[in-house]
Amino acid sequence: MKKMIMIMALLMVSISTYAGGKEYFATNCASCHGATAQGQGMFPKLAGKDAKFITAELVKFKAKTRKMPFPVPVKDTITDEQAKEVAEFIATLK
Ligand code: HEC
Repeated sequence: MKKMIMIMALLMVSISTYAGGKEYFATNCASCHGATAQGQGMFPKLAGKDAKFITAELVKFKAKTRKMPFPVPVKDTITDEQAKEVAEFIATLK
C-alpha cells in the first residue's frame, strides 16, 4: 500500500511538471510562436527544437546577451526551472 502511494505521488509530480511547461507556454509564448509552436511570419518555429537549445536561448534572452526584438515581459522573470520546463514541453511538439 505504501508503495502504491509512493508511485502515485511520483506520477503526480511528473505530470504536474509537464503541465507546468505546457501552461507556461500557452500563457507566455503561444501568442507569438503559435499554440503548437509552429511559428508565424517573423516568429520562429520552436517545435521540434532541442530542449537544451531552447533553454540556452532563454537564458541568453534573460541575460540580455541575445535580444528579443519585441518586449516579452516574461523573459526577465522566467526562472531556470520554468525555462527548463517550457523547453521540455516545446521539445515534445512536432
Ligand atoms: C512578443 C512576441 C514573442 C513572445 C511572447 C515570445 N517570443 Fe520567442 N521570439 C520572438 C521573436 C520575434 C523571435 C526571433 C528573435 C530573433 O530572431 O532574434 C523569438 C525567438 C525565440 C527563440 C529563439 C529561436 C531560434 O531559433 O533561435 C526562442 C527559443 C524563443 N523565442 C522562445 C520563446 C519562449 C519559450 C517564449 C515564452 C516564454 C517566447 N519565446 C515568447 C517573439 C516572441
